[in-house]
Amino acid sequence: PALWAVLPAAGVGRRMGSAVPKQYLDLAGRAVIEHTLDLFVADPRIRGVAVALGREDAYWGDTGYADHPKVMRAPGGAERCHSVLNALGVLEGRAGDDDWVLVHDAARPCLRVADLDRLIEALMDDPVGGLLGIQVRDTMKRAGEGERIETTVDRSSLWHAYTPQMFRLGLLRHALHDALEAGDLVTDDASAMERLGRAPRLIEGHADNIKITRAEDLPLARFYLQQQGR
Ligand code: CTP
Ligand code: MG
Repeated sequence: PALWAVLPAAGVGRRMGSAVPKQYLDLAGRAVIEHTLDLFVADPRIRGVAVALGREDAYWGDTGYADHPKVMRAPGGAERCHSVLNALGVLEGRAGDDDWVLVHDAARPCLRVADLDRLIEALMDDPVGGLLGIQVRDTMKRAGEGERIETTVDRSSLWHAYTPQMFRLGLLRHALHDALEAGDLVTDDASAMERLGRAPRLIEGHADNIKITRAEDLPLARFYLQQQGR
């Protein structure tokens, strides 16, 4: 089966609070989303990349990927899950239901090539699919009333969920449709699969695959890119 990528990039970046949506902020001289796209466009295994953009996006046209033959544009939606579903719609007709889709946040420019490779290799023959993540390092607490600790949560089975998340196109579309119909605005793709009783596999990645969320994340992302020689 072929491999495709979907980049949800239609968020407004409320927590960043910048005038320009965070996926278009400057990172080492180029927009965040351009760094993110570098990896997926350059990968010969990936046939095409569908990018979900906000309806009033005024910045995409100025990126180096706006007219790239491997990159397709899809309309963004109200929530991330709507944006992903719209991008899957753009792949229909080109991709088959058994093809794999890598869904990756536009706001995660520091994904390592080696982690992407490991994810694809580990899951290519998997019946369900899965995602990159890292195991939780800190001691975890569950808060009760008045922000007082109710209990300490066993961290040995806790992971941070990252992207890319890799699933079969047909199954992912079905899972997202089903979640939306039930009014469940899942915040990642694995959650949609979990709702249907599937158990996506966790593949250990690296902590530098941060999602740029707040202003202090930008210098950190710059550092991580430098470390990778990008
Ligand atoms: N995203 C999207 N469509 C939406 C909301 C989010 O395509 N309706 C994308 C974002 O552009 C981002 C990714 O999903 O690349 C992860 O979302 P998040 O980090 O939450 O980005 P924002 O929603 O833009 O930020 P915030 O939650 O702070 O507003
Ligand atoms: Mg958001």
